[in-house]
Amino acid sequence: MYSVKIMFVVSLFIPAVRSSKDLWKLECLPTVGILAETTVIRCYFKDIKDIEIVAVYLTKVGEDKPLFSQEESKRSGDKRFKLLENSTMRPSLQISETMFSDEGEYHYHVTTDSGFKDIKLSISVTARYKNPVTSTWPEKVMDRGPVSLYCNATDGYPAGTINWFDRSGTNWTSNSVLTKDPKVISGVKSVALSSKLTLKSIALDLAPFKCIVFNSKYVQDGLKTLDITPVLDETNMVSSGSKTKSIVAGVIVIGSLTVGLLFALLFFRKRNHTHRRPSANPILSYEQGNDDDPEK
Ligand SMILES: *[C@@H]1O[C@H](CO)[C@@H](O)[C@H](O)[C@H]1NC(C)=O
Ligand SMILES: *[C@@H]1O[C@H](CO)[C@@H](O)[C@H](O)[C@H]1NC(C)=O
Repeated sequence: MYSVKIMFVVSLFIPAVRSSKDLWKLECLPTVGILAETTVIRCYFKDIKDIEIVAVYLTKVGEDKPLFSQEESKRSGDKRFKLLENSTMRPSLQISETMFSDEGEYHYHVTTDSGFKDIKLSISVTARYKNPVTSTWPEKVMDRGPVSLYCNATDGYPAGTINWFDRSGTNWTSNSVLTKDPKVISGVKSVALSSKLTLKSIALDLAPFKCIVFNSKYVQDGLKTLDITPVLDETNMVSSGSKTKSIVAGVIVIGSLTVGLLFALLFFRKRNHTHRRPSANPILSYEQGNDDDPEK
């Protein structure tokens, strides 16, 4: 009888006790949101099965008024915040259109039919890198010549990194220099990345190169394939047996044949036409004259 009485008294007082002396717990995982996307703050009750949420209040540390509250289905405060759908059992929250101003520490107060809890939770916000932009200097590259490859990525946060690979997957990153340029523009944080891969003597058959942009957690955010435009240089072609060069050589041969054919056509057309003043088209007439001479 005595123990039953004590049990009754204790159970009566548990919900009124502010600190978490109760058997159940409320926990939230640290949250990393992505700028402009939907962020879910995962929270759960521990050591209790039958529990129902009555109200939740989310307040930024250092502020008095809740930033967001929801009592039953009545929401007030920041409209981007809400209790996750179908979650009478789970006090998880959702933020749509996440902003950098959502970063920080919060007090999260949850009232249930089994009492309330007040815990701290933290939110940090990252931003994805946009599609990388690449270029080469010089724009046209000689086989075995020097070249710098550039790969830039913007709008990401925190600072990520850029790695370089050639067509066979060899990692060239150690030959590159990464520049990081942090900015804050109207509350939007970003770190622009610019990587320069310098090769003193490039074998053109290593192309295309790939630049891969990673976020601060080394998760890939972007990839760009960087083709290298070779210089169309004939002496180079003869000395090199590389595949790229043979393709280039092929293009040149076909090109010269086409040009030759064109001149031949022009020549015959001109012969069938009434005489035109040669000076009307000086270059063609010069060539035509050259072709003419041996035949006459
Ligand atoms: C990449 O960034 C560097 C340094 O900011 C700049 O000099 C270069 O022009 C940029 N290249 C491209 C392709 O945007
Ligand atoms: C490529 O090399 C860089 C620098 O040496 C290194 O940090 C990175 O982990 C390497 N990447 C891979 C996929 O091996």
